[in-house]
Amino acid sequence: MCFHYHNGELYAEGVDLKKIAREVGTPFYCYSSEKLTRNFEAYRRALADFHSTVCYSVKANTNLAVVSTLARMGGGADVVSAGEMYVAMKAGIPADKIVFSGVGKTAAELEAAIKNQILQINAESAAEVETINQIALRLGVKANVALRVNPDVDALTHVKITTGKKENKFGVDWDDAHRLYREAANMEGIRLAGIAVHIGSQLLDVEPFRLAFTKIAGMVRELEAEGIVLDNIDLGGGLGINYNVELPPTCAAYADVVRETLGALNKHIIVEPGRSVVGSAGILVTEVICTKKMGSKNFIVVDAGFNDLVRPAMYDAWHTILPVSKKGVAPLIADIVGPICESGDVFAKDRIIEPVQAGRLLAIMCAGAYGASMSSVYNFRPLVPEVMVRGEEYAVVRKRTSYEEMLSGHALPQWL
Ligand code: LLP
Repeated sequence: MCFHYHNGELYAEGVDLKKIAREVGTPFYCYSSEKLTRNFEAYRRALADFHSTVCYSVKANTNLAVVSTLARMGGGADVVSAGEMYVAMKAGIPADKIVFSGVGKTAAELEAAIKNQILQINAESAAEVETINQIALRLGVKANVALRVNPDVDALTHVKITTGKKENKFGVDWDDAHRLYREAANMEGIRLAGIAVHIGSQLLDVEPFRLAFTKIAGMVRELEAEGIVLDNIDLGGGLGINYNVELPPTCAAYADVVRETLGALNKHIIVEPGRSVVGSAGILVTEVICTKKMGSKNFIVVDAGFNDLVRPAMYDAWHTILPVSKKGVAPLIADIVGPICESGDVFAKDRIIEPVQAGRLLAIMCAGAYGASMSSVYNFRPLVPEVMVRGEEYAVVRKRTSYEEMLSGHALPQWL
C-alpha cells in the first residue's frame, strides 16, 4: 500500500506524513513514486501486445518530478499548450513521443510544435489544419497531423468533463471529418499521421469507449480504401478512478476493448491517460485551523482552500478525507471547509469523520490529478509545496511560493 496506516499514523510509502508536515508546513501535496510508477506500468502491461505509446496527459499533473518519473519509464506526453510541451521536453520526453491536443492552439504554439517535429498535432478544426499547412510551408517542412474527430458518443460522465458529444466544442464534426482528411491529404505542408479521439474523463464504463473506437475503426478503413493510410490511432484518456465507491474498469478491460475494436488494423496505438496515472498517487495534507458548531452543524475549518484543490467546488467531486493520526474515537458529522471567502470553499459536506481539533492533520485522498495543476493564488495564497516520496526517502519537488515571488511580476505604472 502506498498510502497506509501504521500504528494509527498515515504514511506515504515508508514516510510518516507528520514528519513531512513538520518540515514543509501545511498544506502540501504528497506524491507516491511507487503508486505513480505502478499506475503507469499497468497501461504498459495491458497494451504490451500492441505497438503502442502511453502519452501521459500532462494537464493532470504538471510537476516536473512527476513528468520526469514517467519520462524515465519511457512514457510520452499529451500536451495542450506550448507550456506543457516545454515541461514535457524539460522532463526528457522526446519530441517524437509528444502529441498536442486542444481546441484553440495559437499560431505560435503550432509553430513551436512543428519546429519540434512532435509525433502529431491533433487538429480540431478545418481552420487549424489550414494554419498548420501555412506555417509548415513557410518553414519548408511537413507537419505531422491527426484529426481529432468528435464521434458524438456519450461518455456517461460529469457534464463538465464530457467532450465527445456533438454539442461539445471539441474535435472535428464526425460528418465533416472524411472530407477534411481528403482536403488535408492534398496539402503540401501536411503529413497525415493519424486520427485522434477523446470522449471524456472519469469514465466508469468501457461501453462508450467501445462505441467510439468502433466508429474510429470504420473511419480508418474508409480512409484506407481511398488511399489515405494513417499510422497512429490516438484514443485519448478518460479511464476513471475510485474516489469513493466507484468501480472503474481496469487497464486490462480497457485494452480488451481496444483489441476487439481496433486490433485487426495493426496500427500504432496511442493512449493519453491522466487521472488514472496520477490521481491515486497524490494526496493533499492540510491542518485543522479550528472547529465550530453553528446550530446543529459542525464545521472543521482547514488551511487548504479551493485555490489549492478546486475539484469539490467545481465538480462537486467527492474526495475521501482521513485523519493523519487515527485516534479511533466515535465519529461525528461535519462540513470540512477551507478559509476562502466564498461559500463554495467546501471540501466535504455532512461527512462522517472522527472529531479533530485545531492542529490535527487531515489527508484529502486521490488528489494527484487535477489538484496542484489546477491550483491558483486566489486570496493571494501561495502555491503549496509538492513532495515526492520514494520508499523511506522524500524530496520537495516544488517549494512553496513566497510573497516576493508572487509579487515579482507586478509593477506600478509610472504615474503612481
Ligand atoms: N486527452 C485529452 C485530449 C483530454 O482533454 C484529457 C482531459 C485527457 C487526455 C486526459 O483525461 P483523463 O485520463 O485524465 O481522464 N479537471 C477535470 C478533468 C478534466 C479533463 C480534461 N481533459 C477533473 O478534475 O475532473
